[in-house]
Amino acid sequence: MNKFKFLFSYLKFYKTKFLISCFCMLLIGGLTSTSRWLVKPVVDKIFYYKDINMLVGLVVLIPVLYLIIGVLTYVKNYINVYIANDIVKKLREEVFKHLQHISIDYFVLKSTTGHTLAKLTNDTNNIFQMLSKTPSVIITDTITMLGLIVVLFYLSIKFAVLSLIVLPIALFPVYIFTKKLRYYSKKTQTEIANLYNNLQESISAVFVTQLFNQQENEIKKFQNFNNKVFIAIKKFTRVEFLSSPVMEFIGAIGVAVIILIGGRDVILGKWTPGAFFAFLATVLSFYQPIKRIAEINPLLQQGLVSLERLIGILNQKSSVIEISNPLEAKFKHKIVFQNVSFSYKKNLQILKNISFEVNKGQKVAIVGPSGAGKSTILNLLLRFYDVDEGEILIDGINIKNFSLKSLRKLFGVVVQETFLFNDTIWNNLTYGNRNATMEEVIEATQLADIYEFISNLPQKFDTVVGERGYSLSGGERQRIAIARALITNPEVFIFDEPTSALDAESESAVLKTMKKLYQNKTIILITHRLNLVVDFDYIYVLSDGKIVEEGNHYKLLSQNGLYSSLFKLQQVNK
Ligand SMILES: Nc1ncnc2c1ncn2[C@@H]1O[C@H](COP(=O)(O)OP(=O)(O)OP(=O)(O)O)[C@@H](O)[C@H]1O
Ligand SMILES: [Mg+2]
Repeated sequence: MNKFKFLFSYLKFYKTKFLISCFCMLLIGGLTSTSRWLVKPVVDKIFYYKDINMLVGLVVLIPVLYLIIGVLTYVKNYINVYIANDIVKKLREEVFKHLQHISIDYFVLKSTTGHTLAKLTNDTNNIFQMLSKTPSVIITDTITMLGLIVVLFYLSIKFAVLSLIVLPIALFPVYIFTKKLRYYSKKTQTEIANLYNNLQESISAVFVTQLFNQQENEIKKFQNFNNKVFIAIKKFTRVEFLSSPVMEFIGAIGVAVIILIGGRDVILGKWTPGAFFAFLATVLSFYQPIKRIAEINPLLQQGLVSLERLIGILNQKSSVIEISNPLEAKFKHKIVFQNVSFSYKKNLQILKNISFEVNKGQKVAIVGPSGAGKSTILNLLLRFYDVDEGEILIDGINIKNFSLKSLRKLFGVVVQETFLFNDTIWNNLTYGNRNATMEEVIEATQLADIYEFISNLPQKFDTVVGERGYSLSGGERQRIAIARALITNPEVFIFDEPTSALDAESESAVLKTMKKLYQNKTIILITHRLNLVVDFDYIYVLSDGKIVEEGNHYKLLSQNGLYSSLFKLQQVNK
């Protein structure tokens, strides 16, 4: 979407407010310019004809005029900032909503957390500055200048024409500098985003940094990013503050020429001093609006660049798209992968024409060496990515026909690196089912062998778990993750190496929990620990993106293939 179209699409929410503000701006512009017109009668009638009534009238008129201008200015400023604030709020929300629904590959391959954060904070601030300050300058000052031109013509056609030649010349630098401002503004926003990115990454990696004694290197890296922001802003500033003096200088030369010619006409008696002063005041009045436009231009360019960056996010299409009128996913019989091929990046196929099935109530394992594509299968089943070729069917229906929500609701997933929110244990447990009752939560936590632990905490379910849940042990986090999945009451449990990050003791606790679930749920276990799958109904051995063997444990052992050699190796290492 184009940025101007986008802005106008937002502006329609504020029709009345915007009209009131425009009305104020028009009046301010009109009053400011016509007040210059008063100079002529003032000089002529008061100083020349000594008109006392005029003097009294003027003394009353000037405060009233400025009172009106003041009230109008307050109203238009308030409305403009209100509109800007509200547009930026809506924009932030729209981008956030988009990010919540966009497919996962955007975060993995196309953008970084730091860049996204920068866009939602720094860039939205630039947009706010632009929206709140530039319309009033552009509208009010354009009206003021138009009004001034009318007054000029009223005073002297010859000089009005002369001034109209000077005006565009003085405004010309705005045009010249705009390109440079946009260029440096883009550069600044990118460097700021890089800095955010570095900050976000270094702060979350502080544990590793201290572990490897890399603080000095991290500081150097940060200084480098910080310095780049400094240089980018420095270059932007050079252009930012150059345009205004250049314009003023050109304007000053123009004014000098006009004074020279006009002063000569007064000396020759062609003009009254009043007319000349009025004219001079009007010409000089052009100065302020030109200056303000020159000064606001960098803000305008910066805001437009930032708006482009945010619209960039909104224009990002999801690679996984829900069809219109999707079906509710149900699982009664079978999940089937049929000739599925998939690659994350072009020309690097990860899954190569794999087919397998999981029947309801079965315990199915997918095993194989690291990098074989096991977790990728999970990504496809949950539609975090879509298959390139082949189909994934649930009870004979391609999963692309289901709503993403209902599809994902079928599965309770526990992965290696569990993410918990920095919130209470209760809120973490009920993350997938906010309506869970106390009984349900207690039942799930008991089943997950974590109830006792929670009950012994001073604040029980109200204990806050710290960032990412790091105030808990790995095993505790995993058992909370299992309970969290249980509370959503899924049809299928999927475990992707849930114990590989754990020590022996926590592992056996988690395994004990998992085994309890095995009795009455469909289970898909992804692991390369073969001793965990001995009693499974069916095992698929994945190697280099292909299913190379399948069957139950005993059948696979007797085949003397990859499975049996891996199994024997693991027995020896035990
Ligand atoms: N988001 C991604 N973008 C690009 N390549 C990826 C992505 N995720 C995984 N890969 C690549 O795909 C291949 C399969 O990865 P996958 O995570 O499915 O392996 P895995 O069998 O689960 O391994 P492990 O047992 O180590 O977890 C790997 O070579 C990996 O480098
Ligand atoms: Mg994996």
